Amino acid sequence: MKIPLLFTPLTLRDVTIPNRVMVSPMAQYSAVDGFITDWHFAHFAKFAMGGAGLVFVEATKVERRGLGTVGDMGLWKDEQIAPLKRLTQFIRAQGSVPAIQVNHAGRKAGTLKPWDGFGPLDRSMPVEGEEHWEVIGPSATSYLEGWPIPRPMSKSDIADVVDAWVATAQRAEKAGFDILEVHGAHGYLIHQFLSPASNHRTDEYGGSLENRMRFALEISRAVRKAWPEGKPLFFRVSSVDEGGWTIEDSIVLARELKKCGVDLVDCSASGIAIRSPTASRNVANRGFQVPYAEAIRRDAGIATAAVGLIIDGPQADEILRRQQADLIAIGREMLYDPFWAAHAAHALGYDAEFSLMPKQYGWWLNRRTKSGFTKDAK
Ligand SMILES: Cc1cc2nc3c(=O)[nH]c(=O)nc-3n(C[C@H](O)[C@H](O)[C@H](O)COP(=O)(O)O)c2cc1C
Repeated sequence: MKIPLLFTPLTLRDVTIPNRVMVSPMAQYSAVDGFITDWHFAHFAKFAMGGAGLVFVEATKVERRGLGTVGDMGLWKDEQIAPLKRLTQFIRAQGSVPAIQVNHAGRKAGTLKPWDGFGPLDRSMPVEGEEHWEVIGPSATSYLEGWPIPRPMSKSDIADVVDAWVATAQRAEKAGFDILEVHGAHGYLIHQFLSPASNHRTDEYGGSLENRMRFALEISRAVRKAWPEGKPLFFRVSSVDEGGWTIEDSIVLARELKKCGVDLVDCSASGIAIRSPTASRNVANRGFQVPYAEAIRRDAGIATAAVGLIIDGPQADEILRRQQADLIAIGREMLYDPFWAAHAAHALGYDAEFSLMPKQYGWWLNRRTKSGFTKDAK
């Protein structure tokens, strides 16, 4: 049988991802002082056991000031490396590629956990026994009404944050990650610089598109220099937002990112002035962001990942066959089914032998099928 495109490898620089299934970064709000916990180990390990080619660790913060929520993962100190190393070793041992998304919340810093309402933290109360942290951003405009007004970043703040990104990339390399993604989407710090809705600066970091892109490109260039030559660098963009950032802007940005050595653009959307798509209650259609991945891929000539309500194997495979993207990122459906990759393969009539599963499981399931058992049997 011809291998479905979803299960063909993708080589970027020196890294070969064994199939096109990417676990989309998904924050768990379960870290302690930025350190991962057993929850994270079990959570991420499942996806590698489930056969996904690329397992992304959630938005990990480059400095404590960049924490969105108490419970965010961090890699702002060396002590945070060792627990992550154990995780990357496990992911690799399952045949998957370990990857990390790196972020700074900027003006969205200080958010309650989703299940606590997702609103701004009450700054008059201690947060889980820890101190509050300063909120910075490109300009003195808050995210939503009632949210803190950020202190506009000086040039030296900008330089400090770029340095923090570099130091985090170096720690990520020590922790054993093979791919690093700069989070430039969902209304977080980089997106705040990109979007005219949140950037009202009058210096060289604000105003024209070229100026608003400067911070994103400085970070990408600096990280590329610090991140090993053979390891791919991704950038997640909000391809369009509700504050005036357009798909044409994203295409210009993607061309510039490519010049900085970014290998793939991960195409999400929105979050600058409303809730990100997953946090909002609006219903979206299957594959609602795929057209962005297609446009950026075609017009900027760069590899893309498609994300957003991609539900099953046939849908994912068709996106690849139509050349709309190079990787398929799965978020919530992975939470529902951590063995999504193995199930997608079966839905495409592939991998009857369960080779995408760990041998500890696959051997038995294969034997059961060989014995003639089907789930329809009474
Ligand atoms: C629990 C949860 C946490 C998320 N955390 C992140 C994150 O850390 N970084 C990010 O870029 N997107 C994050 N997202 C968005 C997902 O990566 C993905 O883009 C979104 O869920 C849409 O894909 P889906 O329809 O397959 O879920 C999160 C989504 C969920 C459901």
